[in-house]
Amino acid sequence: MVIPAPAKVNLFLELLGKLPSGYHALDTVMTEVSWYDTLVLQHGDERTRTSSDHRSTHAIDFRLIDRTAGGGSGDVPADSENLVVRALELLRTTAGVERGLRATLIKRIPSQAGLGGGSSDAAAALRGANRLWGLGYDRARLMELAGQLGSDIPFFLVGGLARCHGRGEQVEPLAGALDLVLVVVKPPVGLATAEVFRRCSIPEAPRSSDEFCRSLRSKNPRETAHRLFNRLAEPASGLTEWVGRLGRSFERTGSLGWLLSGSGSACFGAYADRSAAQRAARRLRSSDELIVQVVFPLAGRMTDSP
Ligand code: C5P
Repeated sequence: MVIPAPAKVNLFLELLGKLPSGYHALDTVMTEVSWYDTLVLQHGDERTRTSSDHRSTHAIDFRLIDRTAGGGSGDVPADSENLVVRALELLRTTAGVERGLRATLIKRIPSQAGLGGGSSDAAAALRGANRLWGLGYDRARLMELAGQLGSDIPFFLVGGLARCHGRGEQVEPLAGALDLVLVVVKPPVGLATAEVFRRCSIPEAPRSSDEFCRSLRSKNPRETAHRLFNRLAEPASGLTEWVGRLGRSFERTGSLGWLLSGSGSACFGAYADRSAAQRAARRLRSSDELIVQVVFPLAGRMTDSP
């Protein structure tokens, strides 16, 4: 079974407060984009069967193939710490599955970028193994498991364009797809999500994503591009000068708007059409320190099946 795992960008992100768990309450709008990791799942052989016999205790046989530009996924664990393995183990033990799996993850989405690569991989693992093991879990049940693994993972079970609340795990799908072409740029430094959140401060009067969502519905891409907003841009800019540098580069290439994605370090510029985005990407690629990808926002799957 071959499962595509797309990246996401945040189009709007506001901090509403701090939750008792220590996480931050968010109001965020995210869209999946056409940049993919690939997860391949196969039934396990004898070696990957679970057993009380200590010689064969690995239920999940995992392999990571790094295809990120510049081989930049060095910080992605290639062992049982990887979110794919943790997701498969959580589903296996919850459902009482005895049979193991072989999972091969081909990584293309840069890590420490705010693009949700690891979260998308985990969601792909839950969806794929649910089918391969014939569990018949519905989306709500998978989302509950996804929320235990990470804040962004439930979003990827819904996909497309969505507004998320709570620490990110409450997902409200939005109709349609964002009608802009994006150029995503990952600078040579990455940012750790926890570190960026540690430096943020909660605004006294948080903004709501209502107006942003209204501009999405009005199908006026220029206005939408103008309203891109991310409260984490300030703490991220305090950790790396790349955020400001990339912003100036996007402005020089005539973007309609630009933003840090999630907790960064990747930023994206928004353009009216493919040719404007490709022209900008060519200019940005003249700096070979940068990973530059032209992407299209994806529409939601809009079904209730996972
Ligand atoms: O949920 P996830 O593992 O992706 O979060 C990584 C880190 O980001 C958390 O440990 C927390 O420090 C921070 N975070 C947060 N509030 C959120 C999401 C993440 O403070 N809503």
